[in-house]
Amino acid sequence: MRPATHIETLQPSYIREILSAASADGVISLAGGLPAAELFPCSLLEQAMTTVATQKNVFQYGETQGYAPLIAHLQSTYQLDERQSVLVTTGSQQGLDLIARAYINPGDGVVMEAPSYLGALQVFTVAQARIETVPQTEQGPDLAALAGVFATGNIKLFYAVPDFHNPTGVCWSLQTRLKVAELCDKYSVSLIEDAPYRELRFSGESLPLVSSFCSARAFVLRSFSKTSAPGLRLGVVTGPRDWLIPMVRIKQAADLHSSLPMQAVLLEILKHAEFADHLKNVQMHYQQRYHALVNGINKHIQSAVSFNTVEGGMFIWLELSKGNPEEIARKALAEGVAVVPGTAFYPGTNAASKALRLNFSHCSPEQLVVAIKRLNNII
Ligand SMILES: Cc1ncc(COP(=O)(O)O)c(C=O)c1O
Repeated sequence: MRPATHIETLQPSYIREILSAASADGVISLAGGLPAAELFPCSLLEQAMTTVATQKNVFQYGETQGYAPLIAHLQSTYQLDERQSVLVTTGSQQGLDLIARAYINPGDGVVMEAPSYLGALQVFTVAQARIETVPQTEQGPDLAALAGVFATGNIKLFYAVPDFHNPTGVCWSLQTRLKVAELCDKYSVSLIEDAPYRELRFSGESLPLVSSFCSARAFVLRSFSKTSAPGLRLGVVTGPRDWLIPMVRIKQAADLHSSLPMQAVLLEILKHAEFADHLKNVQMHYQQRYHALVNGINKHIQSAVSFNTVEGGMFIWLELSKGNPEEIARKALAEGVAVVPGTAFYPGTNAASKALRLNFSHCSPEQLVVAIKRLNNII
């Protein structure tokens, strides 16, 4: 049977191809966006699962919006007032998909930074949005370009990852946050603030959510994949109460609700006194790994490369002074190290990026140094 026409607009995922090759024996992978499995909160999960196993009510069908005690907990953790509400989703990826399905008509204008998170690019492509991009600077989106594209008057949504961007690691400055909120208000553009890495800050000062400056026109996507474990497949969307109603209807058609036992398990671990220590432990290890990667680059990469320091998240964006990043990524794989070429993170096929995305959360500090030495052989 012939698939629906919009499926043909989806490009094959270079990352998926690399990731399957990256799992081969002997390959050190800096390619994926995987958290460190050895840091998953397994003992908290075990206790929580034992507790939840006795709760018959959570093994029944439940409410589409989510497990009520979890919603109440999140409503208070995120300090949402009565105008804001929570929808529990199957990973934050589903939250993004539900926003697109509920709000995007074919041809609607959606702005993203370039480069951008591939999963978002795929969602907006399937929704047949008209995707516009603005360049990214060290402080966040290029504000003049953003104002220019908003001023055209036909932009509905701006999708952004202000905290430790995937793929670049950029964290928006406070001034950028304020200005973007102002521009969204001025041009009546709705914001999707995707924040899966926000809790992974290991240095510097936490900055307010952009949406805290324009909460009446913003969705926030949160994920428990990086703070707990991605296999739980849990995330949430928060936003104006009435904005979530069409999304609840679509989620009902899609999967009735996200797994209730997993939501109950998540609630148990979030409420546990040791969860804060678990998070600190993850942050500390990621900081060590980040330093191992950076020291490895400074010590072992002999050609001219550059990168911006990061204060959290899971990635750095290594700019090469010469060479084709796709060819380098292919050759690096043969040398036993997987990385993703920057070109994979742009819409279309003729991106001019000379960068590589390097993940530092998944491998041990020792493996990261070996990976960098191998990479040096190629670049
Ligand atoms: C920016 C961004 N948004 C969303 C997601 C999806 O996260 P989840 O596992 O919650 O679906 C990812 C995953 O890597 C991501 O990098």
